[in-house]
Amino acid sequence: MAESLFDAEPLFDEVVPLYELRGAHVEYRTPAGVVPAVEDVTFDVPTDGITVLAGPSGSGKSTLLRVLGLIDRHTAGAVAWQGRDIRNLSHRARRAVRRDRIAMVFQAPPDNLIGHLTVAQNLRAAAQSAGRPDADDGILEWLGIPGTGDWKVGALSGGQQQRLAFGCAMARRPAVVLADEPTSQLDAASAALVLDVLTRLAGEGVAVVAASHDPDLVSLGQRVVRLREGRVEGIEGVAA
Ligand SMILES: Nc1ncnc2c1ncn2[C@@H]1O[C@H](COP(=O)(O)OP(=O)(O)O)[C@@H](O)[C@H]1O
Ligand SMILES: [Mg+2]
Repeated sequence: MAESLFDAEPLFDEVVPLYELRGAHVEYRTPAGVVPAVEDVTFDVPTDGITVLAGPSGSGKSTLLRVLGLIDRHTAGAVAWQGRDIRNLSHRARRAVRRDRIAMVFQAPPDNLIGHLTVAQNLRAAAQSAGRPDADDGILEWLGIPGTGDWKVGALSGGQQQRLAFGCAMARRPAVVLADEPTSQLDAASAALVLDVLTRLAGEGVAVVAASHDPDLVSLGQRVVRLREGRVEGIEGVAA
């Protein structure tokens, strides 16, 4: 794997990581002062497979996902997207990457869906938001919710809604799906079905970055970045 290729043209046969973080810091300014949320974080996210950001509440997982999602900005250090320092991306380029290449799935199933639309309309809206005409045929079977296209999303269980959320992410045909504790509000059986969808999604060649402290989700990670109080405690699964 290529070393830090910020703003370099990739050479033949050289795979640039999807993300490279080098000594990244994120701090929030609050009325009570500056709160460091992420400190001196260094890791890569490859272009495929499942990368898990693991750590207890308050360890900086959601903050990092917002930086990877080009929603929040890091305050020091460097972060690259496909070999480009994201500080060098124009506002317009950031927005285009967010729209066309990144899908996000949040913890609470209803936050990922449009409540007054049907299942099929949600999939189409997600696809169109990334400039695609519609989700692939067969996606409802793929998600394990066949025949629900005309249902309002509220008629699905929480676990089914979360599987649909990953279907909507998939319909955008992104380079990466960023999922923030996608199983934490589900019972064990529903969570297992969501993990199955997430595994198959990664099998389609989409990179997945999931923040979680769910041991079952953490164990799916080909790479696990362990965080504590905003710092990296250890990284597992990185090939030497
Ligand atoms: N918008 C914010 N304003 C101020 N502090 C924040 C904000 N978001 C997160 N933090 C702080 O940053 C730290 C990391 O939070 P977070 O990224 O949400 O952790 P996690 O997702 O692992 O629970 C916590 O101390 C949290 O209080
Ligand atoms: Mg969080």
